[in-house]
Amino acid sequence: MELREVIGRRRSIRFVRPYVPVERWKIQTMLEAARIASHWGNVQSLRALVVFRESASETVLKALEAPIVGWQLRIAPVVIVWYLDTAAVDEQSDRLRQLLDVGALGFGPPEERRAALERQLIPIFDSIRESLKQPGLNEIDCGQGIAQATLMAFELGLGTCCLGTPNGDDIRRGLGMPETCRVILLQTVGYPAEHWEAGGQRPRQPFERLFQMDRYDQPFPRDPAVVEELRRDKMFTAPAPLPYREAELRFLRDALGLKGTGLL
Ligand SMILES: Cc1cc2nc3c(=O)[nH]c(=O)nc-3n(C[C@H](O)[C@H](O)[C@H](O)COP(=O)(O)O)c2cc1C
Repeated sequence: MELREVIGRRRSIRFVRPYVPVERWKIQTMLEAARIASHWGNVQSLRALVVFRESASETVLKALEAPIVGWQLRIAPVVIVWYLDTAAVDEQSDRLRQLLDVGALGFGPPEERRAALERQLIPIFDSIRESLKQPGLNEIDCGQGIAQATLMAFELGLGTCCLGTPNGDDIRRGLGMPETCRVILLQTVGYPAEHWEAGGQRPRQPFERLFQMDRYDQPFPRDPAVVEELRRDKMFTAPAPLPYREAELRFLRDALGLKGTGLL
């Protein structure tokens, strides 16, 4: 499947089959995809604790419970706790030296490159190290890694859903992680119980509202021919809600024994 179609078919899959375990190699493949994503200064602050419902202790499963992430967490065979470790920023100078040594950063004679790095770049980063640990760049890069893992999961036939939580600190403590860590989100993983369309392409803001060209007050012109090509390539699919969606939601709720509104 071409990348365009993969992007078009990926959905947040909230309904998964609780009784089908997810193979460990598939989770490893997701993690391998996350590991090679880009990260500023090649710092690699993205970390993950993978919780398999089958084998994790009650203490660990309990630690995941948080008000905003209820039922999805309970039915998923696997939950990936994506977090970042700000301690990775302390090793940033070494990551830069490594980049330089392998020819990924700078140019010119190696000894001169190295001297320039030590003289110019490293002191700058050293002076702002603590601010570089604050929420911002690291989260963006972790997001890139999580996105690569998400696309990989799709390719492996898995459904995933990211779950944000305001209880990141409680979860971190419950899982025994040090204070240098920040929980980014929980991602449920399982085999989809819903059709891949999951009710259709979820609504998005108008293109022109989101993107500008050359000037802030000038929307990026959206070429209909490009849109048409992407539709042909299946990056754009039928918009939600598809006519059968309400029936599908009722079916899923009953099949999975879910109650209430399913919002929390
Ligand atoms: C960082 C992040 C956090 C999210 N948190 C939640 C959540 O707590 N609960 C939930 O049901 N969906 C959550 N989602 C899924 C979004 O609601 C979903 O991406 C959006 O509705 C669009 O649907 P789509 O991903 O299928 O295109 C989250 C998505 C992201 C990227």
